[in-house]
Amino acid sequence: MTKVAIVYHSGYGHTALQAEAVRDGAAGAGAEVLLLTAEEGQARLDELKEVDAIVFGAPTYMGGPSAPMKAFIDATSKPWFGQEWKDKIAGGFTNSGSMSGDKVATLQQFAILAAQHGMIWVPTGYLNETQQEDWTNGHKDGVNRIGGYIGAMAQSDNAAPGPDNPPQGDIKTAKMYGARIAKAAMRWGSGQLD
Ligand SMILES: Cc1cc2nc3c(=O)[nH]c(=O)nc-3n(C[C@H](O)[C@H](O)[C@H](O)COP(=O)(O)O)c2cc1C
Repeated sequence: MTKVAIVYHSGYGHTALQAEAVRDGAAGAGAEVLLLTAEEGQARLDELKEVDAIVFGAPTYMGGPSAPMKAFIDATSKPWFGQEWKDKIAGGFTNSGSMSGDKVATLQQFAILAAQHGMIWVPTGYLNETQQEDWTNGHKDGVNRIGGYIGAMAQSDNAAPGPDNPPQGDIKTAKMYGARIAKAAMRWGSGQLD
């Protein structure tokens, strides 16, 4: 069975909802899913060697991945030495307080991480559903309402996480992205390029 791991950090629970949506999407597409916090990921690097795809997720803090996620990223220098993750499928998601909040930098960090490991990066592939209606405000239920393509984006208000925070559009986007990652891993199989 195709295995998808999601390694994420969430300081206050908003990014955790996004991570759970990625998990639901991947599981719905038929993958076995391992949902790990950044700390668990660090402790269980050996298990990540066995999966077909790894999705990295973190809130954007000060224009980049939050510190616990960066600690996980740095710990992956161990599998990097052996190129243990080479040719696995990779993806990333992030959530921020501002609509932009410079969160593309977080996804760029994840894409570079994947590149250093020789992984195959999967972008979202979903047009901004709200585009035709209202460029400025969009609507909160729209898939990819933020118009991010490198990975799945979400924006949450400072209020407690809940059914509309992050908004349903961002949750839908994360779920579809999880399914897309699982399907990419299934199509790719476990074959290595070289
Ligand atoms: C230390 C810190 C730094 C932050 N930096 C940014 C930032 O650079 N851009 C932004 O839009 N939001 C920023 N935020 C807001 C968070 O991204 C936002 O509250 C997010 O929903 C938190 O996700 P979490 O509940 O999973 O931790 C920051 C929050 C904290 C606590």
